[in-house]
Amino acid sequence: MLRTFIMAACAATVLAACAPKPATPTAGQISAAEVALPADPHIATIYQRSCISCHTAVSSTAPIVGFAPAWEPRLQQGMAVLVQHAREGYKAMPAKGYCSDCSDQDLQKLIEFMSTTIPAGKDNS
Ligand code: HEC
Repeated sequence: MLRTFIMAACAATVLAACAPKPATPTAGQISAAEVALPADPHIATIYQRSCISCHTAVSSTAPIVGFAPAWEPRLQQGMAVLVQHAREGYKAMPAKGYCSDCSDQDLQKLIEFMSTTIPAGKDNS
């Protein structure tokens, strides 16, 4: 019994060690995400109201704004799928990101902004 438990625990440890580590943004990349805003004032208002709180917080598990490793695999699904996931919700992402009056066009503009890589600056260490 104990032997089985120990073997199971070891197997779990090995599996955890083998799993690919999700890319984590640096403190500089998170600060850059926190201050970035869409140029369009309408989109910036929605973004600050509905998306920024999760999408600049690593603890939310949301893809961080401007952080390419988090967005690249998602962008490969195509914009139509991303808009659909934003509209209908996807795993821990709530439907419309709590923006009940967002149109598909608004969601697309938000996604284009959020998924655009923020170039590494002097704070991006
Ligand atoms: C309550 C937190 C929360 C809010 C608010 C939120 N998101 Fe998300 N979002 C998430 C999480 C968590 C994920 C990652 C889901 C996963 O893949 O596990 C995500 C993923 C996404 C994705 C990627 C979906 C995919 O197919 O990979 C898009 C696009 C997105 N969010 C757009 C938005 C937009 C636009 C807003 C604002 C209108 C918003 N989110 C607001 C938490 C949030």
